[in-house]
Amino acid sequence: VKKVRLGIVGLGRLGMRHAETARYCVRGAELVAACSLNPAELAGVKEQLGVEHCYSDFGQMIAGAGIDAVLVVSSSSEHVSHITQALDAGLHVFSEKPLGTTIEECRTAEKSVETHRNLVFMLGFMRRFDPSYAYAKRQIAAGAVGQPFMVRAYGLDPDALIDGALRFAATSGGIFLDMMIHDIDLARWFLGAEATMVHAIGGTFKYPDFALHGDVDNATALMQFEGGGMALFFTGRTAAHGYHIETEIVGTEGQIRIDGVPRKNRVTLYSERGTSEACVEAFPERFGEAFTLEIQEFVDCIREGRRPEVSVHDGTRATAVAYAATESLRSGKPVYLSPR
Ligand SMILES: NC(=O)c1ccc[n+]([C@@H]2O[C@H](COP(=O)([O-])OP(=O)(O)OC[C@H]3O[C@@H](n4cnc5c(N)ncnc54)[C@H](O)[C@@H]3O)[C@@H](O)[C@H]2O)c1
Repeated sequence: VKKVRLGIVGLGRLGMRHAETARYCVRGAELVAACSLNPAELAGVKEQLGVEHCYSDFGQMIAGAGIDAVLVVSSSSEHVSHITQALDAGLHVFSEKPLGTTIEECRTAEKSVETHRNLVFMLGFMRRFDPSYAYAKRQIAAGAVGQPFMVRAYGLDPDALIDGALRFAATSGGIFLDMMIHDIDLARWFLGAEATMVHAIGGTFKYPDFALHGDVDNATALMQFEGGGMALFFTGRTAAHGYHIETEIVGTEGQIRIDGVPRKNRVTLYSERGTSEACVEAFPERFGEAFTLEIQEFVDCIREGRRPEVSVHDGTRATAVAYAATESLRSGKPVYLSPR
């Protein structure tokens, strides 16, 4: 089977990382084209990664670069436009989360994916590919905790990177769509059910500027799932200790906890200040392996004619729940969702 020729749109915080992954770490693919609105990023990808074809216009890249597939890592508000244009041009598509920033956008993407059933579409819920999360999922499937009925998830970004979060605030879609959406997807995945009720609260406890975009710096949400399952989420942008992604799945016969202490490595420092362990600093460090594995899976699906497990429907559903959380935060009331 010939190598998959990849193009990438978006070369920002995550895009450059995905470009490096596609260039150096993925078997059966080559990165041949890149698109960004930022000329410095394009110069960087050409010089550092030797990408042949660079574009500032997405339409020109999909029409002219001779590619088979696109990695969409542009700003969240651009995803659906880039997804539909690429599918219409006959290209396979991997898109970063969130699928869209409105439910209407998600429905447009779903329709486009359904129209192009011959093409592979995959959404970047990369945590499902992290070896620890994949192991936990296998344990649960094997009955290790009995019937899972509750998920408790912490998703905390480091205070040290707050400047980037503030810059990104205008296009992020808000804390639920931008951050909690990963935990929402995990809860759906682990419980094997859809959320039916969301009650969210939050506030700007440290950075009032988030309020300028109708956003908050810390939020919690309580959810009910079909069949009575429960989830409790805490998502924040001001963790003093680093990047802290912790997930717990509670079942009738046991519990699984992933990264209760978000250790950077296996080192413990013993000094006059006591004992200490360094914390993971940011998402590329924690989920680097997952980013590689998910793009490898996308390429393998194209080459082997398989469908990825993470579907466009997962994107719409997680977005709908994140939206309900946003609505609940604003209204102060629980929001009920129809599970299908
Ligand atoms: N999976 C994760 O954990 C994770 C982590 C970070 C970001 N993301 C997602 O990745 C996406 C990108 O995030 P980021 O932090 O890299 O953003 P960023 O703002 O740093 O970069 C955005 C990039 O998109 C490009 N772009 C925007 N509009 C464009 C257009 N119309 N045509 C061509 N290029 C365009 C910009 O030039 C830039 O290169 C977001 O949707 C975000 O939600 C996911």
